[in-house]
Amino acid sequence: MAAPIFVFSLLIIASQPCQRILASAAAAGGQWQLLQKSIGISAMHVQLLRNDRVVMFDRTDFGLSKLPLPNGRCRHDRRDQVVKVDCTAHSAEYDVLANKSRALMVQTDVWCSSGAVVPDGNLIQTGGSNDGERKVRVFSPCSTCDWQEIPNGLAVERWYASNHVLPDGRQIVVGGRKQFNYEFVPKTITANTFNLPFLSETNDFHVENNLYPFIFLNVDGNLFIFANNRAILLDYMKNKVVKTYPTIPGGDPRNYPSTGSAVLLPLKNLKSAATEAEVLVCGGAPKGSYIQASRGVFIGALNTCARIKITDSNPQWAMETMPLARVMGYMILLPNGNVLIINGAGSGTAAWEFGRNSVLNPVLYKPDSKMGTRFETQNPTTIPRMYHSTAALLRDGRVLVGGSNPHHYYNFTGVLFPTELSLEAFSPAYLDAKFNSIRPTIIAPKSMSGIKYGQKLIVQVKIAGKVAQNQVSVTMVAPPFNTHSFSMNQRLLVLGNDKVTALGKQMYNIDVTAPGSGNIAAAGFYLLFVVQQEIPSEGIWVKLQ
Ligand SMILES: *[C@@H]1O[C@H](CO)[C@@H](O)[C@H](O)[C@H]1NC(C)=O
Ligand SMILES: *[C@@H]1O[C@H](CO)[C@@H](O)[C@H](O)[C@H]1NC(C)=O
Repeated sequence: MAAPIFVFSLLIIASQPCQRILASAAAAGGQWQLLQKSIGISAMHVQLLRNDRVVMFDRTDFGLSKLPLPNGRCRHDRRDQVVKVDCTAHSAEYDVLANKSRALMVQTDVWCSSGAVVPDGNLIQTGGSNDGERKVRVFSPCSTCDWQEIPNGLAVERWYASNHVLPDGRQIVVGGRKQFNYEFVPKTITANTFNLPFLSETNDFHVENNLYPFIFLNVDGNLFIFANNRAILLDYMKNKVVKTYPTIPGGDPRNYPSTGSAVLLPLKNLKSAATEAEVLVCGGAPKGSYIQASRGVFIGALNTCARIKITDSNPQWAMETMPLARVMGYMILLPNGNVLIINGAGSGTAAWEFGRNSVLNPVLYKPDSKMGTRFETQNPTTIPRMYHSTAALLRDGRVLVGGSNPHHYYNFTGVLFPTELSLEAFSPAYLDAKFNSIRPTIIAPKSMSGIKYGQKLIVQVKIAGKVAQNQVSVTMVAPPFNTHSFSMNQRLLVLGNDKVTALGKQMYNIDVTAPGSGNIAAAGFYLLFVVQQEIPSEGIWVKLQ
């Protein structure tokens, strides 16, 4: 009987080429590529800008980096504990297309800070440590631009805070060490800090476990704030908590130093009056891990994710188990709506020297698959990416990976996890050449600005293989500010398509409608992708206003 069955299955495969390709996509595991052995600094904070350059920085009191500042410039800081005169850079700009970087100069300490790209496309960074804790810094995307600093740009010192861009174009900056409040940037003339008792309530004695809170703008305009093991929905205009979410079952902490990560899952059905929003929180460290790590005992990280529909009237967490336990991982939204969980450790916590057992394999999470079938382990890297590592989606669909420095200084020898100055790229399986017949190529426009809310758009693509109208979707991604395992302001909108029109010669017009409001998508620069059967095009930069 064996032979006929074999022949029969071959026939099925031959007659359904698309399905066969999809099945092999599920089994594939991505590729790693070393981009730069050393960019001279450790990429602790990274942000992709609209010119396809990635701005990165570490800290100014690490000692001397391996990247000299050009033109004889130096930082002079009497109070710096390590070097009083530092002629090396602690920030750099990596040009993705040219595969080259150049030194930038931060004037004050940007360590463990936060930021976001605001609607005009500038990166606005906030806070840091020591002389930098109340500074706001602006970086405009241009090939000769450098950091501009605004003294006292923040109302209070912010270290380990989280930021989000708001529909009115300002940023909200939430929390930070010993700051149980939030503020807006740019500052308004009136009192600028607003108390948030939730942050003191979730602050574990001596350990915190609520720094770098996970914040997302909900589709109703309120701010979802997750800290430690639970969340609230905040009307930030009225400074009023409008909803309190349950504690994640088990109650283990998910925020710094028990660092897990979180994403707002792709927003769909955007034309509906009742668009739903879901948040996924993954990894972290069991209660007590930080204290144990300080005694040299490294407890296994959490292997659970918790998912909640934040727009529900009675929201409940649904628990899922990851194939690998992880603390200090990132969750990166890919153009096709899947989530890449990457970097981090299998035990211990964040903070100096407290992580062990690097997790070298990324894991893919497919939010639309059936529960129990959502995770897929990907091919491993060879470079541990521990505390102070980063990951960021690029326009071509690769994920840039850099940083990792669990030490007080730059330490390259004689330590468990040497300071990493390298950059790698992870190419998810969707970039494999075998999917080229499915892959859309955007022919026109090359970029788009001035897109209005609800505007009808046409994107022209080339697709070599067969196309089915219901398998083509347009997505938009807001490139986040990535640090300490949280990607601030990360957002993916699934626009779908209104119509696909064949133009002949493998060309198609895709009609699509821009998001309808600033609560769905704040104004600013997004990467727009066309996706067919989970295979994305390269993105184009578009500006929503
Ligand atoms: C990028 O440049 C480095 C040297 O600066 C080189 O080793 C590497 O192969 C290049 N990578 C790519 C993908 O071009
Ligand atoms: C790292 O480097 C500094 C300065 O070179 C040194 O003092 C320190 O002991 C090293 N080790 C660690 C774990 O930071």
